[in-house]
Amino acid sequence: MAHHKIFSTNLFVLNDFYKGDTEPMKKYISDLWTNREYDNNWQTKSANLHKQKEFKGFTDLVITTSKKIIKKLNYEVEDITITDMWANVLREGENHQAHTHSNNFLSGTYYLHSDKGAGITFQDPRPAADVIVPRKKLITLDNASLLIYASQQNRAIIFPSWLPHWVQQNKSKNKRISIAWNIQIKGQIGEHHEFQSAVI
Ligand SMILES: [Fe+2]
Repeated sequence: MAHHKIFSTNLFVLNDFYKGDTEPMKKYISDLWTNREYDNNWQTKSANLHKQKEFKGFTDLVITTSKKIIKKLNYEVEDITITDMWANVLREGENHQAHTHSNNFLSGTYYLHSDKGAGITFQDPRPAADVIVPRKKLITLDNASLLIYASQQNRAIIFPSWLPHWVQQNKSKNKRISIAWNIQIKGQIGEHHEFQSAVI
């Protein structure tokens, strides 16, 4: 019996992602945090961290890793660009509600400062998959309806931008600082002869 796992959702977990010095990024975000205008579920106002010198090494790594992923998935793209990169600071008890990242191809999150207190949950995106949900002897990557990944420090998770996700309530007394980003593909997308193409 051949077991085909079709129409995959491709998610990539990269532990020990960034080998460079994270202190300049932490300081940059901490300075913005200190001067913040509001408290709850704080995020950087401008999603332009990728344009700051403190984030150069990290940004380069995001780009090279994303290109590897696109190659691994056998897509052919002319180029990619980071459209947004921002920071999130979650204090104890805070969370992020369910969302997707529209107008992009790949998205990612990276735990700059975290003690696993606020994991990220991904939801099965197939609309018909919850019509019948049997009991499970064992929850696996193949039969799960929800998957939770711990917010482990120096872990990056890269996923399709359309995949619904949310962040659980931070159960730690410590702040969780994450960096998130979006990536769009550039140039010719799709095929003219299939009448479903774009150039961006
Ligand atoms: Fe998100």
